Amino acid sequence: MPDAPILSVSEACVRFGGVDALVEVDFTIETGTVTALIGPNGAGKTTLLGAVTGMVPMHRGRVVLAGRDVTAMAPHARALAGVVRTFQNLEVFANMTVLENVMTGRHALVRYGIFDGILRTPRFRAGERACREAALDRLDFVGLADKKDLLAGELPYGSQRLLEMARAVAAEPKLLLLDEPAAGLNTRETQALAALIARVRDELGITVGLVEHDMDLVMGISDAVTVLSFGAVLASGTPRRIQENPDVVAAYLGD
Ligand SMILES: Nc1ncnc2c1ncn2[C@@H]1O[C@H](COP(=O)(O)OP(=O)(O)OP(=O)(O)O)[C@@H](O)[C@H]1O
Ligand SMILES: [Mg+2]
Repeated sequence: MPDAPILSVSEACVRFGGVDALVEVDFTIETGTVTALIGPNGAGKTTLLGAVTGMVPMHRGRVVLAGRDVTAMAPHARALAGVVRTFQNLEVFANMTVLENVMTGRHALVRYGIFDGILRTPRFRAGERACREAALDRLDFVGLADKKDLLAGELPYGSQRLLEMARAVAAEPKLLLLDEPAAGLNTRETQALAALIARVRDELGITVGLVEHDMDLVMGISDAVTVLSFGAVLASGTPRRIQENPDVVAAYLGD
C-alpha cells in the first residue's frame, strides 16, 4: 500500500484585497515524489507555497502535513512539523560564511535555551559541534564543502542557489518546497540542479514540491505535475499526460 500523501491541501482560498489569488485549490503531494506546480505568471504558485508554510493566510481551506492538520499552526511550528521552503528571490545571508548559512537552517532543530548559549554549557557545545558537522555534511552533499569559509556573498550566483538548497535540507524537512530554483541558472547549472533535486528525493528521502518555469527541468524529473491558472487547478497528472492536455497547452500559449 502506498504511503499517505505528505501534503494534502483542500479547498484553499486566498484573497489579496479584491484579487482572488487562490480559489478552492486542492493540491496533493505523494510521499517520496518530486511534484511540480506549474502555471503562467500570476497563477498563484508562490501564494500556494505561502499558504502551505503558513506565511500567507487562507480565508478558507485546510492543510494536512504528514497526516497532521497544520491549518491553525504558525509558520515556525509548521517548519518543525516538517515543511521548509526556499524563495523565488535568492535569500542567502551575504555577510555570513557559507558554513554559517547552512548552520542557520540547522538551528531550527536545536533544543537548548538562551542560558545554555550564554553559559556555553556542555549541552550547548555538544549541540554546536553536531550542528556544524551536519551543516558540513549538507555542504558536501551539494558540492560546496571546499567553499565553507568564504562569505556567502562571494560565491557566484549558481553556487548561492546550491547553498540555499543546503540550508533548506539542513533543517531535515519531510517536505521541501522550491520556488523557481533554476531562475537565473545557465543550461549546465540547470542540469546539475535537476540531478541534485533527484538526489534530495532518492538519497535524503525528502519529498520535493517544485515550482518552476523551466519545462525541461520539470518534465525531466517530476513524478507528478499540477497546473494552476488564474488561482485554480487546471489539471493534475503525470508529466506526459500534462504535456498532452489541450487546456494546459492553451493556458501557456494564451489561446
Ligand atoms: N502580497 C500580495 N498582495 C497583493 N497581491 C498579491 C500578493 N502576492 C501575490 N499577489 C497577487 O496574487 C496573484 C498570484 O501571485 P503569485 O505570486 O502567487 O503568482 P505566481 O504563480 O507565483 O507567479 P510567478 O510565476 O510570476 O512567480 C497575482 O495576481 C499577484 O499579483
Ligand atoms: Mg511565484
